Amino acid sequence: MSDSIQPVKVLSKTTWTPTLFSFTVTRPESFKFTAGQFVRLGVNPSKLMVYKNKERQVDDSDNPVNEDIFRAYSIVSSPFDEELEFFSIVIPDGAFTSQLQHLQVGDELLLKTTPFGFLTLARYQKPLPKDLWLLATGTGLAPFLSMLQDLQTWQDYDNIILAYSARTKSELAYVERIQQITEDFTSLVDNPAKFTFVPIVTRESVEGALTERLPKLLLDGTLQRHVGLELDPESTHIMLCGNPDMVEDTKEALKSLGLTMNRRGEGNIAVENYW
Ligand SMILES: Cc1cc2nc3c(=O)[nH]c(=O)nc-3n(C[C@H](O)[C@H](O)[C@H](O)COP(=O)(O)OP(=O)(O)OC[C@H]3O[C@@H](n4cnc5c(N)ncnc54)[C@H](O)[C@@H]3O)c2cc1C
Ligand SMILES: NC(=O)c1ccc[n+]([C@@H]2O[C@H](COP(=O)([O-])OP(=O)(O)OC[C@H]3O[C@@H](n4cnc5c(N)ncnc54)[C@H](OP(=O)(O)O)[C@@H]3O)[C@@H](O)[C@H]2O)c1
Repeated sequence: MSDSIQPVKVLSKTTWTPTLFSFTVTRPESFKFTAGQFVRLGVNPSKLMVYKNKERQVDDSDNPVNEDIFRAYSIVSSPFDEELEFFSIVIPDGAFTSQLQHLQVGDELLLKTTPFGFLTLARYQKPLPKDLWLLATGTGLAPFLSMLQDLQTWQDYDNIILAYSARTKSELAYVERIQQITEDFTSLVDNPAKFTFVPIVTRESVEGALTERLPKLLLDGTLQRHVGLELDPESTHIMLCGNPDMVEDTKEALKSLGLTMNRRGEGNIAVENYW
């Protein structure tokens, strides 16, 4: 498909915290993607209405030339959904999200229709090992939600572990949706993978959540014990997404445990950095 820019309409918005929100948009008919991929979303400040002095109005003050601004966004929804869903941070002085945070149902965004990215399960050669570990910080959860809404994922592995780290409980978004996805997908597949969700909250104490950063949890074996599985190089695929420091530190921790980067289909670890 050529990389056309198509207008998409905002259909819903969910605000998790003042700096985290999700939204759905219309899906252009011919737009196809693989679970785990990302697209470039655009705003044109002359089209996105914002609140200024409590009144909704066009804001082009930070963008006097009125150019479209594009940023990479992982797709949360499944490749089979009719709408496209995204999960976004708000960086108060970020060129893109300082605009995007004001979007409302009915607003128009721009979508570049070429999907990108290799954080997909298709990158792994068959035969597949039995365990799939998905490790995310913050909005890096997005591609894993898409994978978990693909029946194939539940068919292909015996065990799926999703560990999701946020600073506070309120920033641990999508917890109920994860529960719902698990119920829906395990009822649709014969012999579905056993799923373990591991919430991690690092800056406050929350019942049921681990509190340390991912590299430490892996290096001292806490995560493996919590889940009841070893990180065996023969039986493990492991994907990391989100904060680049987490990706780097976790990658090093995993290598020291004997796992290898996935290249040309072989090896355990696949990663995506968000900045
Ligand atoms: C492959 C890929 C996929 C991405 N998918 C998503 C996504 O699904 N959701 C999303 O919110 N962002 C995602 N991003 C980041 C996104 O492209 C923008 O960086 C983000 O929207 C902020 O844009 P900005 O112009 O406001 O700030 P920028 O100028 O782009 O960023 C300013 C600073 O904000 C911080 N930052 C940027 N993005 C994030 C983030 N997601 N979480 C925490 N801190 C951040 C970093 O410190 C960065 O240096 C992705 C990036 C890449 C490369
Ligand atoms: N969260 C907010 O309220 C907020 C608001 C405005 C702007 N921002 C900006 O957004 C960016 C951060 O976004 P975010 O909320 O998604 O936070 P983040 O810093 O990516 O934190 C998300 C999770 O990742 C963990 N983490 C960070 N570095 C790690 C590492 N090296 N190894 C393992 N885990 C690691 C954090 O643990 P720790 O808690 O131990 O760091 C936290 O549990 C920053 O640029 C920040 O300035 C955040």
